[in-house]
Amino acid sequence: MSILIKNGRIITASDDYIADIFIESETVSAIGKDLNFEAEKVFDASGMLVFPGGIDPHVHLDMPFMGAFSSDDHETGTRAALFGGTTMLIDYAIQSKGESLHSALETWKNRAMGKTFGDYSFHIAVTDFNESVKEEFKDLIKKEGITSFKTFMAYKGALMIDDKQMISIMNEVKKYDGLVAVHATNGDMIEYLVEKYKSENKLSPWYHYLSQPEITETEASGRFVDLAYLSGVNAYIVHMTCEGALNKVREATKRNQKMLVETCPQYLLLDASVYKKGFDSAKWVMSPPIREKKDNETLWAGIRQGLVHVVGTDHCPFMWSDKLKGKDDFTKIPNGAPGLEHRMELLFSEGVRKNRISLNKFVDITSSNVAKIFGLFHKKGTIAVGSDADIVIFDPEQKHTISAKTHHHRCDFSAFEGWEVTGKVKTVFLRGKLAIDEDKVLVEKGYGKFLKRKTPFKI
Ligand code: URP
Ligand code: ZN
Ligand code: ZN
Repeated sequence: MSILIKNGRIITASDDYIADIFIESETVSAIGKDLNFEAEKVFDASGMLVFPGGIDPHVHLDMPFMGAFSSDDHETGTRAALFGGTTMLIDYAIQSKGESLHSALETWKNRAMGKTFGDYSFHIAVTDFNESVKEEFKDLIKKEGITSFKTFMAYKGALMIDDKQMISIMNEVKKYDGLVAVHATNGDMIEYLVEKYKSENKLSPWYHYLSQPEITETEASGRFVDLAYLSGVNAYIVHMTCEGALNKVREATKRNQKMLVETCPQYLLLDASVYKKGFDSAKWVMSPPIREKKDNETLWAGIRQGLVHVVGTDHCPFMWSDKLKGKDDFTKIPNGAPGLEHRMELLFSEGVRKNRISLNKFVDITSSNVAKIFGLFHKKGTIAVGSDADIVIFDPEQKHTISAKTHHHRCDFSAFEGWEVTGKVKTVFLRGKLAIDEDKVLVEKGYGKFLKRKTPFKI
């Protein structure tokens, strides 16, 4: 199949120009002005933006968590992602206690197998480190193409590891040039506060917010930065929410340390007033919690300053019936919210259109930096001759309203219900196939493929 996209305004992390793109089979084979090639299909992209397919590096699909399963699986999740211009995602395979990392990977691969519309990979979350697990990293990085490992400094008694385990993981992963990612909040501080509020019978979602104050994230982020400094590993902080944590990263630059940082749309755009809505606030019960307006401003500035490199979603939806399990006790509300579908449109509308970030930065944080950090560049993350033809045609003027009534997530509420955005995904190509056109999905279930990743490209 050959495709010609005519007259689009092509945006990459570094370029902005009007040209034609010729696609043959799965890849971009030529880019130029007034290309005069015969193509089986021609798309006129005049007046449209044309940018690389988004890559969301922080997604939880079909994940057993806090007594429920995240409600999007690999079918509904990758399809919703495509509707929002995200052509690839990286899900988390979580190691259970006593399980090997290879077994966790197998479990998650089986969950996804044959169901995906978009491309995908996995990070492995290491929750039970020991000598035999230590032996697994080499093979996972060199043979299986799993080059990033997630750790938790919180969720005590379930997912949390201690500092000695963290440094051992870092040293081992560094040997093979992999990456260690972290959920950086102090699990002991949080446990102390949770017990205190429970003993005082303070059980509404507001106390979820109060039990994870900014200092719990500042402390753990600083500790992770120091452990990373000691080991020299490629280190990445997921879903950063606040000024205190970002300042730990800022300070580390003074000793010439490079940290990699991700935030999410909810931490850029929402504030803690969402926890003042009675039990409706359960929609935004996630960890870390949503913070203050000053933190929104710090994170936008962090993106502009090059301290925040990636915006993922931490997409972890639960149905309202699952959220209701915590009606009388906030600790029983499954943590997480939907977000995968609207990451690109929200960042364009609130970021680019409101002059918070440039168009090139938009591509960088949604696609190029993700591809570089997670070993997918130049195949993914750009539009260039030889790269995968993962391409979004985007109408920068079309207005629409986000709602659970119209979104494609399998979730009966939206964290951004009623948000009016300007800019809409019109057409999406995935590896040269027309995947979405005018609100219709045109690839088949199973077209999305698992990709082995390389080690990080230094940014
Ligand atoms: O509340 C959240 N974020 N749920 C998903 C698991 C995690 O911590 O990333
Ligand atoms: Zn987390
Ligand atoms: Zn997460």
